[in-house]
Amino acid sequence: MDAKLKPQIVVVEDAQAFAAAAARRLVGRVSGKDRAAVCLTGGSSPQGLYRLLAQDPWRGEVPWDRVHWFIGDDRFVPQNDPLSNMGTARRLFLDRVGAPRRNIHPMATDTNSPESAARLYEDNLKALYGADQLDPARPLFDLVLMGLGSDGHTASLFPGSLALDETRRWVLGIAKAGMEPFVPRVTLTFAALASTREMLFLIDSADKRPILTRVLAGEDLPAHRAYSDGDLVWLVVRAAAPER
Ligand code: 6PG
Repeated sequence: MDAKLKPQIVVVEDAQAFAAAAARRLVGRVSGKDRAAVCLTGGSSPQGLYRLLAQDPWRGEVPWDRVHWFIGDDRFVPQNDPLSNMGTARRLFLDRVGAPRRNIHPMATDTNSPESAARLYEDNLKALYGADQLDPARPLFDLVLMGLGSDGHTASLFPGSLALDETRRWVLGIAKAGMEPFVPRVTLTFAALASTREMLFLIDSADKRPILTRVLAGEDLPAHRAYSDGDLVWLVVRAAAPER
């Protein structure tokens, strides 16, 4: 929890530097390991990073056969729907680089309800982790990517939702999204997202400046409640950085 008190804020000049800085951090977190786990995010903020990972030289820097890819939240739509977060990650980089199918772990958004998809994903995560309880000394992920919505949500943890207070479950079904697209969601909880060596918020556009200012000032918004058992880093493009 100490990391929550001291987030590291890294400001970069432009979109190009932003994607490169994110790629550098990702490669640093997945290199030199027998097995690494990355939890991806949705929305537009990670898309520059995803495109970059599919290109040289970054493509050659990722040990694709040893990295496992998860998703922190997804929209309850089929993976081939343009709204699907894992579908987008696959289109932009995972399928393009030929990441092994067994290393890609989408949520089962073709089941009969967000809640059943959540249960299945939680079971999968627990099986891969090898325990039912998360141990801060042995994080589930090496890197967790996070976005920030203009209402302060992160993953599919929206302001005012009961999901914000969940401490036991790892994954929840969210019947009603607090922001567009208004489709049901499946989301990891703060507790599961926190189980990482690094949580990296991606803030890539000027329109995020007002909400980022509020979150970093300590307002009780979902993104402010996010914490990490490891490092907590906000990667921010200069145009979005709060004025000092
Ligand atoms: C989703 C997300 C969500 C997103 C933020 C920021 O499925 O919508 O995972 O939490 O990260 O809404 O989205 P943008 O990057 O598009 O601004």
